[in-house]
Amino acid sequence: MKRLEGKNALITGAARGIGLAFARAYIAEGARVALADIDIDQAQAAAQALGDRAKAVRMDVADQHSIDSAVAETADAFGHIDILINNAAVFTAAPICEITRADYVRAFEINVAGTLFTLQAVARHMIANGIQGHIINMASQAGRRGESLVGVYCASKAAVISLTQSAGLNLIAHGINVNAIAPGVVDGAHWDEVDALFAKYEGKPLGQKKKEVGAAVPIGRMGTAEDLCGMAVFLASPEAHYVVAQTYNVDGGNWMS
Ligand SMILES: NC(=O)c1ccc[n+]([C@@H]2O[C@H](COP(=O)([O-])OP(=O)(O)OC[C@H]3O[C@@H](n4cnc5c(N)ncnc54)[C@H](O)[C@@H]3O)[C@@H](O)[C@H]2O)c1
Repeated sequence: MKRLEGKNALITGAARGIGLAFARAYIAEGARVALADIDIDQAQAAAQALGDRAKAVRMDVADQHSIDSAVAETADAFGHIDILINNAAVFTAAPICEITRADYVRAFEINVAGTLFTLQAVARHMIANGIQGHIINMASQAGRRGESLVGVYCASKAAVISLTQSAGLNLIAHGINVNAIAPGVVDGAHWDEVDALFAKYEGKPLGQKKKEVGAAVPIGRMGTAEDLCGMAVFLASPEAHYVVAQTYNVDGGNWMS
C-alpha cells in the first residue's frame, strides 16, 4: 500500500523547484495533487507532465480572493483536501540600510500572510468536512537566525516557524497536524537567483556563493529538492499523527535545534 493512497493534496508554489518535487513524490505515493502557482503556464506544463493525478490551479497566495478560489477549485475537483503544503515564497536580500518598504511588504504578504491565510482557508475546509488533515509549512534555516544581507527573508521565515507552533497547537484540537520543514541550501532556479543577489552585494563572480555554501554544509554539498521529499511524505502520513507544531531541519547538518 502506498503511503498517501487516496489522499488529496494542495501544494502552493508547485510549478517548479521544491514544490514540484513534492508533487511528484506525493503522486508516486498514491495522492492526487493540485499544483497551485502564480505562474499558471508553468504549473500547467508541470501538471501535464505528471499525468492525470495532477491538476494545475491558478493561485496568488498574496491575494485572499485567489486563496479562496484556489482552495474551492481544488476541493471541487478532488472532493476534499487532506494535505496542504504552504510552499510558495519569495527571496529577497539587501543590506539593512537599503531594504525598501515595498520589498518588505511583498515578502511578508507572500511568505507570512500567504502561509497564514492559505492555512486558515484549508483548515476551515478540513474542519467543516471533518477531515483530520496534515498541513506542512516551508520554513528555512534562514528562520533560525538572522543573516547580514537577508534580514527580511530571515524574519519572514522566523514568522513561519512561529505560526507553525501556534497553528499546530490550535488545530490539533480538530485532529489537524501542522508542522514545518526547514531546508538549508537547496540547488535550483531559486538559488541561482540568490547567487545573483550575493554576486551583486558581495562582489563575487556568478556561481561563487553557491560553491561556498555547498562546501560549508557538513554533508559536503547543497541539497536537492528530492532530499526533502522523505520528510514531506512522512509529515503528511498517518505515521506523523503524534508530531505536532514542530519544525524539522532537513539541511545536511547545517543547523541543530
Ligand atoms: N531553495 C532553497 O535553498 C530553500 C531553502 C530554504 C527554504 N526554502 C523554501 O522552500 C520553498 C520552495 O523553494 P524553491 O527553492 O522551490 O523556490 P522557487 O523560487 O524555485 O519556487 C517558488 C514557487 O513559488 C511560486 N510563487 C511565487 N510567488 C507566488 C505567489 N504569490 N503565489 C503563488 N505562487 C507563488 C513561484 O512561481 C515558484 O513556482 C520556499 O518556501 C522557500 O522559501 C528554499
